[in-house]
Amino acid sequence: MTTVVLPGSFDPFTLGHLDLTRRATALGHHVIVAVSHNPSKQGLLDLEARTAAIRGSLAQEGLEGAAEVRTLPHGLLVDFCREVGAGAVVRGLRSQLDLAYEEPMARMNHHLAGIDTIFLLTASSLAHISSSLVREVHALGGDVSDMLPAASLEALHADSDLR
Ligand code: PNS
Repeated sequence: MTTVVLPGSFDPFTLGHLDLTRRATALGHHVIVAVSHNPSKQGLLDLEARTAAIRGSLAQEGLEGAAEVRTLPHGLLVDFCREVGAGAVVRGLRSQLDLAYEEPMARMNHHLAGIDTIFLLTASSLAHISSSLVREVHALGGDVSDMLPAASLEALHADSDLR
């Protein structure tokens, strides 16, 4: 079994992210969902809430043995991959726009440490879902309940109650 890292900010963790995690485990990988921490980036959920929502989502999907959630420390992704013994990074591609964003990072990670990136095409039914659009729709009062795992939705509602 290969350990792979699925990195991201996951603000919030969506059904698209959960589907990618599940599909990577179905390919036989142990998946470390690595949550990036960028204090200068004005997000919605804090690191703790995002991590808890991912842990809850993995449990709800019955993936807690095959996948785990960790904080991505400040530094290079490839250094984290080495630290956890991961052989590859996994990222989802919704469209060619995603590929344009991902390609230089994948090439750089390979240049730095020989770490390959495994790209999985996002399921068509989930290809319109991004964390940023979910945040926008939610902020403007729209319903995002069919785009998020229950644990992420609870985290969003808990956050709204606090504001
Ligand atoms: O959810 P995002 O914002 O698309 O995730 C971006 C992420 C965390 C994958 C990206 O910012 C990243 O890989 N950061 C680690 C920093 C790094 O290694 N940079 C140099 C090589 S590209």
